[in-house]
Amino acid sequence: MKQILSVLIGALIVSGCIDSSPTETKTDRTGERVDSLMALMTVAEKVGQLNLYAGGWEFTGPVPEDTGNQKKYDMIKSGGVGAMLNVLTADGTREAQKLAVENSRLGIPLLIGYDVIHGYQTMLPIPLGQAASWDAEVARSGAQVAAREASASGVNWTFAPMIDIVRDARWGRMMESPGEDPYLASYFSKAWVDGFQGDDLSNPTSIAACAKHFAAYGFAEAGRDYNTVDISMQTLYNVVLPPFKTASEAGVASFMNSFNEIGGVPANGSSLLQRTLLKGDWDYQGFVVSDWGSIGEMITHGYAADTLEAGYKAIVAGSDMDMEARVYENSLETLISTGQLNLEILDDAVRRVLTIKFDLGLFDDPYKYCDAEREKKELGSSENLAIAREAGRKSIVLLKNDQNLLPLKKKGQKIAVIGSLASSKDVPLGSWRAQAVTDGAVSLLEGIQNAVDNKSAVKFSQGYTLTSGNREFVRELTFVEGDYSNFDQAIALAKRSDVVVLALGEDCFQSGEGRSQTDIGLKGDQLALMYKLLEVNKNIVVTLMNGRSLAISELDENIPAILEVWHLGSEAGNAIADVLFGDYNPSGKLPVSFPRNVGQCPIYYNHKNGGRPTTNPNDAGMVFWSHYTDAPNSPLYPFGYGLSYTTFEYSDLAISSTEMNDTGELSASIRVKNTGSVAGQETVQMYIRDYVGSVTRPVKELKGFEKITLNPGEERVVKFTISNETLSYYRADLSYGSEPGKFAVMIGGNSQKTLMTDFRLVN
Ligand code: BGC
Repeated sequence: MKQILSVLIGALIVSGCIDSSPTETKTDRTGERVDSLMALMTVAEKVGQLNLYAGGWEFTGPVPEDTGNQKKYDMIKSGGVGAMLNVLTADGTREAQKLAVENSRLGIPLLIGYDVIHGYQTMLPIPLGQAASWDAEVARSGAQVAAREASASGVNWTFAPMIDIVRDARWGRMMESPGEDPYLASYFSKAWVDGFQGDDLSNPTSIAACAKHFAAYGFAEAGRDYNTVDISMQTLYNVVLPPFKTASEAGVASFMNSFNEIGGVPANGSSLLQRTLLKGDWDYQGFVVSDWGSIGEMITHGYAADTLEAGYKAIVAGSDMDMEARVYENSLETLISTGQLNLEILDDAVRRVLTIKFDLGLFDDPYKYCDAEREKKELGSSENLAIAREAGRKSIVLLKNDQNLLPLKKKGQKIAVIGSLASSKDVPLGSWRAQAVTDGAVSLLEGIQNAVDNKSAVKFSQGYTLTSGNREFVRELTFVEGDYSNFDQAIALAKRSDVVVLALGEDCFQSGEGRSQTDIGLKGDQLALMYKLLEVNKNIVVTLMNGRSLAISELDENIPAILEVWHLGSEAGNAIADVLFGDYNPSGKLPVSFPRNVGQCPIYYNHKNGGRPTTNPNDAGMVFWSHYTDAPNSPLYPFGYGLSYTTFEYSDLAISSTEMNDTGELSASIRVKNTGSVAGQETVQMYIRDYVGSVTRPVKELKGFEKITLNPGEERVVKFTISNETLSYYRADLSYGSEPGKFAVMIGGNSQKTLMTDFRLVN
């Protein structure tokens, strides 16, 4: 009987049950289908749509005895679960859908979510690395690869993009983010959403995206994950929120809120963020999911006394779906039946979730994403790997290249490859690696061997020792200290080689969720080895593998050539070799500042001037200005920095007028010339400074960039438009607009090295 009812309802819903008029839009039709379904739902079934359960059992095998899992089965069958996460494979997800569709009274299909952060099986560079490309195509095509693979395996919803602004490298989740700048993060926010979702969510190769973590999670005090956040409204609106607003405008299907509090209110309970701003001012129509267990954590925060209060506060504040806290399951029905919660609030949340299910086409075919045949072809396909390689090489940043040590020659050179990270086929896959195959990456060593004419000219020695074994959930993970057993071999190898490629950095599981660190230097014996190698061979190229900005002053002082290669994904070794040997001229620019040492954190280029900045030359040597007594204020490598195998000269900064009004525009232009001997790409960056505001303004803010390719000797004039929008910001009363006065425009190849001129905004 149940089955017959669900089939009938399915047909009713699919047909729309109301005749559609020719002017009716797809959105109208979906609205009608949602309404007709909701008219049939009990309160319990409605609450069920807001419960997100984790999988963690084998669907294709027998039902485990474990009562927890049995309960999940029963809940799904009874329509008590609206979405699952971590249910894997085309067959496994099909089984999950079957449980819901064929057993529950209304047969409503499940959302199947998963953290597809930088790839599903084929790994793209970590998001921080992708952001170093300053190239939307890298993000878009990478997210498309991830969506194609994940969707073939039954996943229809990813918990990405993560678009938290990060200023503190101690926070391990820097690797997931697009970095420290709101403009660049917004640019990537749109590219990732477009890549995951495509033009039409119902396309079986696209998946619903989720903008997270809303909001300010990246501002955890002292960079310690899950710690308290205390942030001004100015910073929230002008720095943290822009990439989220962009995601909303790009039509992202869902938002995930965050573990932290804002102004004393945990994000789950924040009406300001979720109701007033997101669903009010931004008119956002998707749904908001909590982070794992975070609705329940409102009790631990000391913001709710019990489950009932936590459930009430979260749903009223606009948190639509409960990820694994089981608070909604245990509170909402009671809250409704006792009249404490208005049914309209519940209905609004359910409507949002069901709308996305309709948009995905799940009611038309709940199994469309569970395609074992496509899964076989899609996962790790050569086409996907080629995209990963291209993304990899575009994400690499050349930090230093004295005497043009790079690029290396493919023949006639004895190359020593040194460091455990160089032979690792696992570390390049990065943290948040979804279904990547362990040890499935092309190692740096393999990449170099693939590239050279004669493999025997390449010799390897591990040098330092990296912790091995299962590292994913180990708390204290680091490089082994004081184990010099492989030093002699590495030193001897360096001595008889022409050049050393030394891989240094972090294990991939040193960054990621819960991986905050107070020391962001190179751990274990890495530096000790570096100094030993320098004694016998000065021609050292360091490839730096890491998930955050590291404090690497020792490298900068001693090593002639440094390549930032992040955790670069499945094709890491090949992509790095492309750059090492000059098949690809590096074009990446840092999306985060690299501090000189951890004591400078948080460090970011778009800071305020303060009352006692360090710019007055007469103050040199004096104490009473804003500085450290033991290190400069400036970063080692600034935001936007990155070299090339060629050089670029900037000249002739010009503006079309020295005055504009708030309805007008002006243009700023600069001449860029390739002064080297090879073709190269340069990212020309424009920064603006608003000298005086009704609240203080940053010393500079990125407001435009363009990536250009120039042949040797070629020059180009690059033009940026400055409009009222470019100069607008959220003021003290949170109104948005510009203010008349003097502005600077600065254009150059990184945030520190720019040419500058002024103009005035007049009324
Ligand atoms: C993370 C989220 C993630 C979720 C589901 C949480 O711990 O903060 O980013 O999407 O787990 O895996």
